[in-house]
Amino acid sequence: MKQYIIKGGNKLSGEIKVKGAKNSALKIIASTILTKGENKISNVPQINDIKKMMDILKDLGVNIKKNQSGSFLINTDNISKTDIDEKKGKDLRASIILSGPLLARFKKATIPYPGGCLIGKRPIDIFINGLQSLGAHCEEKNNKYYFTTKQLHGAIFVFPKISVTATETMIMAASIAEGTTVLKNTAQEPEIIELAKYLNKCGAKIKGAGTSIITIKGVKRLLANKTKIMPDRIEVGTFVIMGLLTKSAIKISNCLPEHLETFLLMIKKAGGKLEIGKNFIKTLPTKKFNPVNIITHEYPGFATDLQAPFTLLMTQAEGNSLIHDPIFNGRLFFTDKLNQMGADIIMCDPHRAIVKGPTHLFGKNVDSPDLRAGITLVLAGLIAQGTTTIGNTYQIERGYENIIQRLKNLGAKIYAK
Ligand code: EPZ
Repeated sequence: MKQYIIKGGNKLSGEIKVKGAKNSALKIIASTILTKGENKISNVPQINDIKKMMDILKDLGVNIKKNQSGSFLINTDNISKTDIDEKKGKDLRASIILSGPLLARFKKATIPYPGGCLIGKRPIDIFINGLQSLGAHCEEKNNKYYFTTKQLHGAIFVFPKISVTATETMIMAASIAEGTTVLKNTAQEPEIIELAKYLNKCGAKIKGAGTSIITIKGVKRLLANKTKIMPDRIEVGTFVIMGLLTKSAIKISNCLPEHLETFLLMIKKAGGKLEIGKNFIKTLPTKKFNPVNIITHEYPGFATDLQAPFTLLMTQAEGNSLIHDPIFNGRLFFTDKLNQMGADIIMCDPHRAIVKGPTHLFGKNVDSPDLRAGITLVLAGLIAQGTTTIGNTYQIERGYENIIQRLKNLGAKIYAK
């Protein structure tokens, strides 16, 4: 398995261009199942999770090509089956979102129980109850979910808790159901707004995306169209913290700072010096950081996907910080690896940790437990004294395209072996 070797202590400089958002591309690609004709999707990040989603769709009979400019041409007219390959489905947690469009168009979908990942057992009760409210029947047999329906119909569905992918799955299912669906207590992520925008471009009638109440008037069928994937706001936040930790002046371009307002407020409270433009953020060398308490929350709150890098930043702050991540129950276990590198973090419970700073970090051999903790260990290696070796880097490449070369271009001493 490929390892990353990082020599810490180097300042970075230059510009890093943000790639397309993984958590937008996965859903827009899945939504092409609802359309007739050829969809053209550009700025799709070349990362493992996208490759897996494409593999699953090809296995169903979807025709996927790439044109010279790197856009994906996706035609789902000849889908020949609606049961997701068990291994492929398990390998991609987000495969559960395919239940919505497959059920809506073909009246059936068979989905393997989505693989959990280290950040917490990933229940799918909201997906099941939501689809049942639209008239689906769901049977679980040998770790697979068999969804069937005579015809999906509109309904009013109240989410018992906010779920990003369950919101997106319900939007896709309701877009060609018979009648009107009202979803309440929905997630409000920018990626959801992008999904609704694309589906409306294809002929759907979705209102309220980005708020907590979304109304969808079902239509007969959607016609393929084209779109460009939005910038990845989690990449932006990750690189902002990377620039600040390494006390570097780097420019993060192709980004939308308005998608990170709470995060940027906490960075400001932490004393991070930034220059923020319309579509770029520049980090400025910052001498000291203040301790800041954060609690993660669905959008527009502090993104849970940025909790790990921010926790690392707080190991360099002058004082104690409380990190509270109520969304997942496995997103703080990576702190033991930071402690192995010299950090001083106490886990109070699976959702809360106290970070004592500042601490001097030393290079160690560590494994990447999950995607966001993995990139955080890379950032830790960039500031640790000595050399850090990171294993299980596949996790990191699930969400960060060509990360080694992009960091090397900024002057990082990093290579893969
Ligand atoms: C999406 O995951 C993102 N993934 C995650 O990013 C992100 O961390 C998360 O939203 C929260 O912002 C994608 O978009 C592919 P949830 P999702 O359903 O939708 C519970 C990354 O690193 N829940 O909003 O799976 C769940 O256990 C990934 O890019 C149920 O109880 O998260 C969690 O506690 C990691 N029942 C809470 O809801 C359900 O049926 C929020 O999870 C579904 C979810």
